[in-house]
Amino acid sequence: MNDLPRVLISEAKINQRLQDLATEISFDYRGKEITTIAILKGSFIFFADLIRLIDIPMSCEFIGVSSYSGKTASSGEVKVTLDLTEPLQGKHVIIFEDIIDTGLTMQYLINNLRSRKPASLKICALLVKPDALKTDVHVDYTGFRLGKEFVVGYGLDYGERYRQLPYIGVIENEKKN
Ligand code: IMP
Repeated sequence: MNDLPRVLISEAKINQRLQDLATEISFDYRGKEITTIAILKGSFIFFADLIRLIDIPMSCEFIGVSSYSGKTASSGEVKVTLDLTEPLQGKHVIIFEDIIDTGLTMQYLINNLRSRKPASLKICALLVKPDALKTDVHVDYTGFRLGKEFVVGYGLDYGERYRQLPYIGVIENEKKN
């Protein structure tokens, strides 16, 4: 493959940051049990790597939401394509998201999940684009802050490609819109 994206955040840097996040989360929730929710598809690799570093009892849930379908700009429309299997009432819940861009997806999910009455609800995002935010979503645990560039790899796709890359990269020499 000669069109590999340029490395923006290396595998080593990701691993290092995940260890920090795991230490913070394990400390904040010591003595408790948590329900972790991975937002599919993009967070599956981040989620799998991070939860294995968290040192407290947990259950794992998955929720699927519709994505941009190959486009690089948010439509603001969010559709749940796969729902949780367990109720959240009274649980300490952490949502794991790959990237928060406009924040519209996360805003929708927070409202949706809060209505299920968890004891607490926090957000962990691998990547946040603060300059692109259109909502005032509060992110409790952030991996890395980015500019407005469109990134791929480590679970993130462009038109369903590049998810398997072990690093976070930027596509060069390609028109994305
Ligand atoms: P938001 O609703 O605009 O915050 O978008 C969130 C979703 O858009 C993420 O879960 C990703 O699926 C997708 N997304 C946003 N920015 C990027 C990017 O730079 N690369 C890949 N996917 C992205």
